[in-house]
Amino acid sequence: MTKIAFITGANGQDASFLIEFLLNKNYIIHGLVRRNSVLDFPRLENIRDNPNLHLHYGDVTDTSSINRIFRIIKTNYKDFKLEIYHLAAQSHVGISFECPEYTTQTITMGILNILECVKNQNMIEYTRIYNASTSEMFGNQLAPQNEMTCFDPKSPYACAKVFAHNLCCVYRDSYNMFVCSGILFNHSSERRSSNFILRKIAMGVAKYQKDKKILRLGNLNAKRDIGSSMDYVKGMYLMLQQENPEDFVLATGTQYTIREFVEMAFQIIGINITWKGQGLNELGFDQYENIVVNVDEKYFRPNEVNNLLGDAKKAQEKLGWKSNTTTEDLLREMVEYELNNYHI
Ligand code: GDD
Repeated sequence: MTKIAFITGANGQDASFLIEFLLNKNYIIHGLVRRNSVLDFPRLENIRDNPNLHLHYGDVTDTSSINRIFRIIKTNYKDFKLEIYHLAAQSHVGISFECPEYTTQTITMGILNILECVKNQNMIEYTRIYNASTSEMFGNQLAPQNEMTCFDPKSPYACAKVFAHNLCCVYRDSYNMFVCSGILFNHSSERRSSNFILRKIAMGVAKYQKDKKILRLGNLNAKRDIGSSMDYVKGMYLMLQQENPEDFVLATGTQYTIREFVEMAFQIIGINITWKGQGLNELGFDQYENIVVNVDEKYFRPNEVNNLLGDAKKAQEKLGWKSNTTTEDLLREMVEYELNNYHI
């Protein structure tokens, strides 16, 4: 039986690792990418020419594009099983306050359209769907958070993700669809966009070492549980190999403040940060009294999730999954990558 995966957000960080992983398992991949004025797909560079990878232009808010790809799959393959990994979204929490409508549209209508297209094209029987939920849904609920923790969304992004998560439960129960939501805590890599915290800090280390550029950040007190994207995509895959569809938290079970991430990252190049001042006036100095980090109001969010720490016991017990990369190792790899690839 041919194994086919349809992946939305195919040019994103997670999708790029997932595609590599599934190609190695002999999947045929159909990826959905948005039309962009820049024509290249840097994260897919190594696999772009693989004959088992087919990229399609489209958008999750455009059902005609989803229906078209489903028809292509149904016409071209006879005996197959289909796994859908729905990863497309406007995924930046801070930006969701600036583009709330767009964020909500892509997240809520995206999953609704996929579920409806699968149902209406009579594909339920042989299709399994992974939905990208998020620890942001937990908001400021007590840590550690797991599958039983209540939702308490604090941003337009998180509100939309709660809708998407609940919708998946409704379709699973109402139509007997195989739909799993992975409640993933923050995860990163050298392929992360530069405006997410760990990548920004890793790039900041290289920029400081090479050019003495000061790193400008927002809230240093937030605590995050951050793992490796490469580990997390294996968890997505395992969720769809279960006998029954269920939701799972994926996390490392360790957390650091943003301030601690900065300290750990600069330590890698021998800089020991000391902090002086408070709030917007807080500054990070190296051991020679040079300013390395300052706080910039523009990176603060109107509302913040303060304390995320995941409990991934269920994933460990049922999927045999655990986060194999420590946050320290991940950060070291990311900083080393930036030091080796820094261009002004
Ligand atoms: N991005 C960013 N830039 N964040 C900053 C900065 C800054 O300059 N300074 C401080 N922070 C703080 C944010 O306020 C937040 O508390 C934390 O660093 C992490 O921010 P992000 O890296 O932007 O990620 P996130 O945790 O808000 O969301 C990510 O993880 C979620 C899963 O928990 C995203 O990947 C989401 O899409 C994902 O769902």
